[in-house]
Amino acid sequence: MNTIDWKNLPFGYFKTDYNLRSYYKDGKWSELEVSTSEYINLHMAATGLHYGQEAFEGLKAFMGIDGKIRVFRMDENGIRMQNSAKGVMMEEVPLDLFREAVIKGVTLNKKYVPPYGTGASLYIRPILFGSGAEVGVKPAKEYLFCVFVGPVGPYFKEGFNPCKMQIVRDYDRAAPLGTGNIKVGGNYAASLRAIMRAHDEGFASALFLDAIEKKYIDEAGPANFFGIKGNSYITPKSDSILPSITNKSLCILAEEMGMTIERRHIPVEELAEFDEVGACGTAAVISPVCKIVDRDSGKEYTYCKNGKAGTVSTKLYEKLKGIQEGTEPDTHGWTYIIE
Ligand code: PLP
Ligand code: COI
Repeated sequence: MNTIDWKNLPFGYFKTDYNLRSYYKDGKWSELEVSTSEYINLHMAATGLHYGQEAFEGLKAFMGIDGKIRVFRMDENGIRMQNSAKGVMMEEVPLDLFREAVIKGVTLNKKYVPPYGTGASLYIRPILFGSGAEVGVKPAKEYLFCVFVGPVGPYFKEGFNPCKMQIVRDYDRAAPLGTGNIKVGGNYAASLRAIMRAHDEGFASALFLDAIEKKYIDEAGPANFFGIKGNSYITPKSDSILPSITNKSLCILAEEMGMTIERRHIPVEELAEFDEVGACGTAAVISPVCKIVDRDSGKEYTYCKNGKAGTVSTKLYEKLKGIQEGTEPDTHGWTYIIE
């Protein structure tokens, strides 16, 4: 334990002491079970394995300046997981059960919450999948809900230093009437080829366009997109992107800072008009973007000319981090303090 290098943690799997499980069977969810095993004993015909009946969430707990641990907007994740469950016909996890599992996951693994000031946090990963056996394409009758946690550093290795993104047209992560707006594993499998190629070609991630016209920005592999133009915070309106809780929070903070919020289509060419561009999400937090390269045309859009994040992105980042770490007042009731 003493040897954890909190300041240099990657965003990756980290074994902690306990995880939580609840089983849905015969029409009801079981009491939460505390487990010390990293493994799940699973039927080989589970629908989660064959037909992608699976959803997950990602949220974080932060050590505050006051020594209190804060979980950020947990109910929003619980509600989104219910929407994901509906989208692939899984049994929904009741909000109380979701909360209980998150709170227990953090409480039982308290010693893994990174200290204040390290820039790291405790990542909480709830998963839900069909565990009942089926071979025909139909929803399972049994489900497993599990929550594990682990300390993490920044998702993109650049952290709050600007990163590069690559626009791709030869892959889509989701279809407009498909599952892009819910957090199911299949979307991430579909995004892998574009993202891994972007990494190989020197980019932090791929930036996907709308699947029909390939005209508008959709989102980055693991994060929403925003651009700053003058006093406007502009973010894509699209049916195939994940409704990001971070983005929703940033919109509110930007509005409170006197900015105008625009949720609308963003044509690729408009990238030339932005003062600042960023990717945002629980894992990505705010990742400022210094360069976007269109893989097909080779056209480049550059930002952060001085090598640093722009002033608006920095202000938003500080404000969000402040609320999460207790250095700014939580006027919206976004944090839950673990007693
Ligand atoms: N978009 C995708 C595809 C994601 O996986 C995530 C991560 O959850 C986000 C956006 C950001 O969402 P949130 O801010 O709720 O973490
Ligand atoms: C998150 O931001 O929590 C995510 O789930 C993104 C990624 C790790 C898939």
